[in-house]
Amino acid sequence: MGSGASLPNVRLPSDTVVVVTGGNTGIGYELAKGLAIMGAHVIIACRSEQRATEAIAKMKAEFLSETSHLGLSHSDERELQLEYMHLDLAILKSAMDFITSFKQAGRKLHILLCNAGIGSPPWGHTEDGYETQFQVNYLGHFLIIAHLLPIMQQSGEDCRIILTSSVASQYGTFDLDTIQAKDERVYKRCMYYSKSKLYQVMQTITMASRLSGSHVTMTCYHPGVVATEITRSMEDHSCICLFGLFKCCLKTPEQGAKTGIYLAVSPEVKGQSGGYYVNCRQKTPSRTASFLPRNETYQKQLWDYTVDCLKDLLPADFS
Ligand SMILES: NC(=O)c1ccc[n+]([C@@H]2O[C@H](COP(=O)([O-])OP(=O)(O)OC[C@H]3O[C@@H](n4cnc5c(N)ncnc54)[C@H](OP(=O)(O)O)[C@@H]3O)[C@@H](O)[C@H]2O)c1
Repeated sequence: MGSGASLPNVRLPSDTVVVVTGGNTGIGYELAKGLAIMGAHVIIACRSEQRATEAIAKMKAEFLSETSHLGLSHSDERELQLEYMHLDLAILKSAMDFITSFKQAGRKLHILLCNAGIGSPPWGHTEDGYETQFQVNYLGHFLIIAHLLPIMQQSGEDCRIILTSSVASQYGTFDLDTIQAKDERVYKRCMYYSKSKLYQVMQTITMASRLSGSHVTMTCYHPGVVATEITRSMEDHSCICLFGLFKCCLKTPEQGAKTGIYLAVSPEVKGQSGGYYVNCRQKTPSRTASFLPRNETYQKQLWDYTVDCLKDLLPADFS
């Protein structure tokens, strides 16, 4: 299935629970809408209630007017099941509050799409003391996965975690001393974006082996170069020029979401873990994708560093 193909013709049971981080706009909006149209109960985890509420209203209105647009065979008149939960990945306490609320609700979780992200912003660090991209793109999602994984392991025989990584992961370098930028002098926007996306690929590979034999799988994907709001934090920096280069072949957010939806629901990838996908196909690893993320020394260094960052917040039995 390429970027122009239709979505898998899958009908999800109405008790399928999906979380999409950053589901209020861009690729996440289309992930949330697509899975809700398939029948799932979709939780949009994002930082603005107003943006989420507007997005949910828009999805419902679009569904009513375009049910046949996505190529689905069912076009009934049910209302989409969509819900907002607050999550600001730049604040670890907010991530913990989200986790606590989710656990307290006693709900299952079948599909977790870690999609929210920020692209190449100026230097900045969070109130938790981490470089912003490191925390928003990688660390915050790691914390959520660690806490929600036990719920997913109890939720059914086919549960999936999908990370929206990027082709930029191939340009990320790994060095224990520069896992995150500690100060502005060493900070290079695109490089630290690439690193955060590389860590997602490394986490996918590491987690896949840890999940071996369980009913939960983990994959990641590059959505393509997609016309979204991701450029808003780039200002006039050179990263935005890269988007200019791809202007002629930019994907729409709907096209950009297809691989994520494919990984979330397609029977073709049931039980498959650890892969990096582009256009719904597992990518033949490039130099860095084959070598760097699979380097077990680096994987262990990243894992230990991450666990140390989150040592006061991870579940007691997490190692
Ligand atoms: N667009 C591309 O070409 C491209 C290419 C490769 C990979 N990606 C990846 O695709 C993912 C989605 O990006 P997009 O292109 O759809 O960009 P987008 O339109 O800017 O959407 C990003 C989403 O992430 C959310 N987000 C940002 N900071 C957050 C925080 N601190 N806490 C919670 N949510 C936060 C945003 O929420 P707000 O609306 O509140 O800001 C928004 O919902 C990202 O992980 C990005 O790295 C994109």
